[in-house]
Amino acid sequence: MHILYIGAGFVGACSAAVSADSGHKTLVYDIDERKVTMLGSKDRDTIESCLFETGLGELLVRNQERISFTTDYTQVTAQLDDCDAIFMCLPTPEIGDTGESNLSYYNSAAEELAAKLAKRNGGEQSNYVVIVNKSTVPIDMVDRTAEIMDAAGVKNYGIVSNPEFLVEGKAISGSLKPDRIVVGAWKQEDFDVMRQVYGRFYSSPDCVYLEVNPKEAAAGKLLANFYLFNKLAVCFDVIGRTCEGFDDVKFEQIRNILSSDKRIGKWGFYDSLYAGGSCFIKDARSLSHQLQTVGQNAQMVNETYLANKRQLELFLSRAKKEGNIDWRGKRVAVVGLAFKRDTNDTRNSPSIDIVRFLQDEGVSHINVYDPSATEMFQYDFPPTETLEYMTHEFDAVKNADVVIIATDWPQFRGLADTMIAELENRPLIMDGRRMLQHRYSDLAAAGFPIIAVGSPFISS
Ligand SMILES: NC(=O)c1ccc[n+]([C@@H]2O[C@H](COP(=O)([O-])OP(=O)(O)OC[C@H]3O[C@@H](n4cnc5c(N)ncnc54)[C@H](O)[C@@H]3O)[C@@H](O)[C@H]2O)c1
Repeated sequence: MHILYIGAGFVGACSAAVSADSGHKTLVYDIDERKVTMLGSKDRDTIESCLFETGLGELLVRNQERISFTTDYTQVTAQLDDCDAIFMCLPTPEIGDTGESNLSYYNSAAEELAAKLAKRNGGEQSNYVVIVNKSTVPIDMVDRTAEIMDAAGVKNYGIVSNPEFLVEGKAISGSLKPDRIVVGAWKQEDFDVMRQVYGRFYSSPDCVYLEVNPKEAAAGKLLANFYLFNKLAVCFDVIGRTCEGFDDVKFEQIRNILSSDKRIGKWGFYDSLYAGGSCFIKDARSLSHQLQTVGQNAQMVNETYLANKRQLELFLSRAKKEGNIDWRGKRVAVVGLAFKRDTNDTRNSPSIDIVRFLQDEGVSHINVYDPSATEMFQYDFPPTETLEYMTHEFDAVKNADVVIIATDWPQFRGLADTMIAELENRPLIMDGRRMLQHRYSDLAAAGFPIIAVGSPFISS
C-alpha cells in the first residue's frame, strides 16, 4: 500500500517505521527540517540521537528502500494520486490551563492536506483515500475532520480513528507486537482498507484487533490513559503516602501483597515523584474538559491530575520539613532529566519543575546529568555558570549538599556504592524513584540522610 504520515514525532516516526517494515511504501512529511534530515539520514546513530527509541534506527535503516522523510509538500502532493491511507500524527497539547486540546497543529495540517486532496487525480478524485487520526484527539474529532474535508470539496474519502497506544521507550518493540489495535470507522470500506494496512496483525492470534466506531476509538484512548494515570496516582498518593506515614511498612512489600491479586494486576506499582510525559496529564485534562463541556462530573479525573501535581510538591517540601534544608546557597545534583528511563523525552519531566524550584529557592549551583536527554533539556535550560551539565552521574553528585534522583535509569542503582566509598561529605539524598531502596540501610549507616518517596525520613 501507499501510506503517508503527517508528523514525524514519537508517534509518526515509530508508526511509519513499522508501516515500512510491514511492506508499505511510506512517505513521512514534517515541517521540522532538522528532524526530517536526521530521521531520513539512514544512519542508525543519527536517527537515535534525534529520537531515542530502541530499535527505531535499525528499523529505518533496514527498510530504507520503502520509507522516506520530507519537508517538501510537492512530494506529498505527488503521492496523493495513489495514496491509500494518510496518518495524522500531529501534536494535540493543552491550551494553557484549560484542559481543552489545542487543535491548531492538526487543523492547519488537515486544511493544507484537504486543499491538495481535492485536486488529486487531476481534480477527478478517483482514488479512494482514508484519513486516519492517530493523534489523541477529542471524542467528536471525526466530525471536525469531515468538516475540514467537506469545506475544501474533498470527495471519495473515509475517516478513521486509530489511536496510538505506544509506550515511549518500548515504542518499536510494542508496535511490532501490539497487544491491541483499535480501528474506529463508520464504513465497512474503511475497515477493509485498515485491515490491509494492518495485515500482519489483523489475523495474528497475539493481537486483539478491535473494530468500533470512531468516537468509541477516540474515547477508548482517552479513558485507557486516564485509567493508567489514576492507577499511578493511587500508587503515589495513597499507597506511597501510607508507607511514608508508618515505620516498618516497606513499599516493595506492600506492592508484593497487592500485585499478587490478579484483579489488581501488576502494572503501575512503582512509587515516583511524578508521572510526567506528553500524554497522561494532557489527556486527563482533555477528558475533564470534554466531560464538563457535555455537563458531566469530572471530579475524579481532576483529583487524579491534582494528586500527581501534589506528589511533586510534597516530595520537594520534605527537604525543609524533614531534612531541615534551607535551599539558599546550596549545591544540588539533579540526577535524571528524561521523564522516565529509556527515552530522551523531557516533556512534563519532573526535573523541569525541580530545576525551576531550585532556582527560585536561590541554590548556588545545580549539576544535572542524564544519559540521553541532555540535548532536549537544554532547550528549556541552556547551560550557565550555575547550571552545569555533567557527563556522568558520579561527577554530578560530587560536592553536592543535596542529591535528587528524578529518573529511573537502571544505572543510577550503582550510585550508592560510589557515594559511600568516595564522597567526603554526606549529602541529603532525595530519591524520587526508590532507585537506591536496596541500600537505604547501608547509606543511612554510612551517615547519609534519605528522603525517599514511599518511605518515612531515614537517617542513622
Ligand atoms: N508520545 C507518545 O507516547 C504518544 C502515545 C500515544 C499517542 N500520542 C499522541 O500522538 C500525537 C503526536 O504525539 P507525538 O508524541 O508524536 O508528538 P511530537 O511533538 O513528538 O510530534 C509531532 C510532530 O508533528 C510535527 N508537525 C507540527 N505541525 C505540523 C504540520 N503542520 N505538518 C507536518 N508536521 C507537523 C512536529 O514538527 C512534530 O515533529 C499527540 O496527539 C499525542 O497525544 C503520543
